[in-house]
Amino acid sequence: MSLQKHLIAPSVLAADFANLRDDIQMVNNSEADWFHIDIMDGVFVPNISFGFPVMQAIAKHATKPLDVHLMIVDPDRYLKVCKDSGADIITVHYEACTHLHRTLAAIKELGCKAGVALNPHTPVALLKDVLADLDLVCLMSVNPGFGGQKFITNTYAKVQELRGMAQGVNDGLFIEVDGGVTTDNAARLLKAGADVLVAGSFVFSAKDPIATVKSLKDIDINVQNI
Ligand code: DX5
Ligand code: ZN
Repeated sequence: MSLQKHLIAPSVLAADFANLRDDIQMVNNSEADWFHIDIMDGVFVPNISFGFPVMQAIAKHATKPLDVHLMIVDPDRYLKVCKDSGADIITVHYEACTHLHRTLAAIKELGCKAGVALNPHTPVALLKDVLADLDLVCLMSVNPGFGGQKFITNTYAKVQELRGMAQGVNDGLFIEVDGGVTTDNAARLLKAGADVLVAGSFVFSAKDPIATVKSLKDIDINVQNI
């Protein structure tokens, strides 16, 4: 179990796009650690979010790292523009990469941290041969494409299995959980071995988003009964 405090990454997908600057400022002022940026192409997922010009605008005001989740086919075409638009971490989907090892190397060559996201149906065992090359694995706990969906409970077992696989191979691996995260499931996810929680609607739809981020950040699995 990591002694380091877990990280919170609010997903800008759930922000008010007409008041994006205020919402970015809110995240800056909160105890959140990263901005989670969801880029969708309408092909890999049945939705289109926003693209690199919007990400550049976010980067201009964000004072915390940008954790970019590319839900797009053939992401190699966009790695450079992604980095140039302000990405610190670039996560591609396992299901969208024919030459995943090459893609991860390209992300690192740009100076970014490299992540892989797995859809709910994709077994974590498939990452065995690239595990040592990864900075982050994003386990999707909903089918990607939309915010506000119901958390898939099989994710607990996936987190636990992946943390076990990473032991002794990549002890510093970030395990991020994305989709339907709330204070109802966060403690159990952390206990299973997750250390980055993405939260979209739970944070941005809250009456007090700053307090909501704090409630996620304050979870202490050593004192909490789960
Ligand atoms: C879904 C995105 C998520 C989404 C999470 O495709 O990858 O990052 O914004 O939103 P919530 O927390 O509302 O499920
Ligand atoms: Zn995401």
